[in-house]
Amino acid sequence: MKIAILGYGTIGKGVFQIACENPHLQVVKILEREERFDQNYLDLFTSNVDEIVNNQEIELVVEVLGGYTFAEDAIEKCLKAGKHVVTANKEVIAIDIENLLALAKTNNVSLAYEASVGGGIPIIKNLKEIKKVNKISKITGILNGTTNYILTKMFEGNTFEEALLDAQKKGFAESDPTADLEGYDMMRKIAILSDLAFDTYIDINQIPQKGIKEISKEVVDEAKKNNQVIKFVCSAKLEENKLSVEVKPEYFPNNHFFASVNNEFNAVILETYPNDELIFIGKGAGSLPTSSAIIADIIDIKDNLYLENYQNINKYEINK
Ligand SMILES: NC(=O)c1ccc[n+]([C@@H]2O[C@H](COP(=O)([O-])OP(=O)(O)OC[C@H]3O[C@@H](n4cnc5c(N)ncnc54)[C@H](OP(=O)(O)O)[C@@H]3O)[C@@H](O)[C@H]2O)c1
Repeated sequence: MKIAILGYGTIGKGVFQIACENPHLQVVKILEREERFDQNYLDLFTSNVDEIVNNQEIELVVEVLGGYTFAEDAIEKCLKAGKHVVTANKEVIAIDIENLLALAKTNNVSLAYEASVGGGIPIIKNLKEIKKVNKISKITGILNGTTNYILTKMFEGNTFEEALLDAQKKGFAESDPTADLEGYDMMRKIAILSDLAFDTYIDINQIPQKGIKEISKEVVDEAKKNNQVIKFVCSAKLEENKLSVEVKPEYFPNNHFFASVNNEFNAVILETYPNDELIFIGKGAGSLPTSSAIIADIIDIKDNLYLENYQNINKYEINK
């Protein structure tokens, strides 16, 4: 299958590497800014997205640019041109999934987004599988590696400022970490999981969120004294036809599963019927784990295994 990659950053490079190792995939174009063209593969690179959109031999496009406007526009163009799209862009998916899935359907192509939540954890695929039989009543997730790393370090004795600096040095936190610290990143991820689990489309602006900036050393010491940890979590619960969604720091006893989810790891707990509780854990970010999820989506589409996500759409007013 001939594919193109939009964005040759952390994830784009990983996707290229793994695709090159797969005999069934051939990367024929990569979009990037000219100053970042890879001199070893110059003939693959372009800075003009239309060169990819109008290339008839490209069947599938991987969007790993990040950001909203340009990326959303590029995804739309590719779907309209009859190309499958695989994306890791949680912002675009959380906001625009309804429109993009409709576009994909009209043009008889697939839109896949496993890597947008939980990095390398195959949570979207598993949700689809679980939904075949089960009703999902609650999703709880540690779905931001940066903040989980910071809280882990604070429980090891660092101050918030020391832990943030350490996360930035190790490449886990961006130079502007606001989206992680305030919970905007997890609002997008819990919206994506809730949409799929509950067959709905959530307006992310309705999700109440509280960040972790107010967690001081004193608060951490007090929690430790009480044999507790603090984790930054997102949750969505469907009860009596009411959906409650939120993102906030929460206390857990030291023997709770979440207490063992440390550093950049992510985890999700699903409450389901009749399968009961299901737990997923893995690396929530990083080039190769995230790229592995992207390549798996590509292979599913290539082998015609990609499943429709939604059946009948329910409209919930959340937290009412
Ligand atoms: N990093 C992770 O661990 C991870 C995990 C899960 C999901 N994701 C998602 O994956 C996506 C990519 O993340 P990343 O970490 O790979 O980002 P990144 O390292 O910043 O790579 C994106 C690349 O695309 C380029 N780009 C952006 N807009 C462009 C345009 N209009 N024309 C040409 N090139 C353009 C960027 O250049 P500029 O920097 O100059 O804009 C950059 O080189 C994001 O949606 C992110 O949320 C990332």
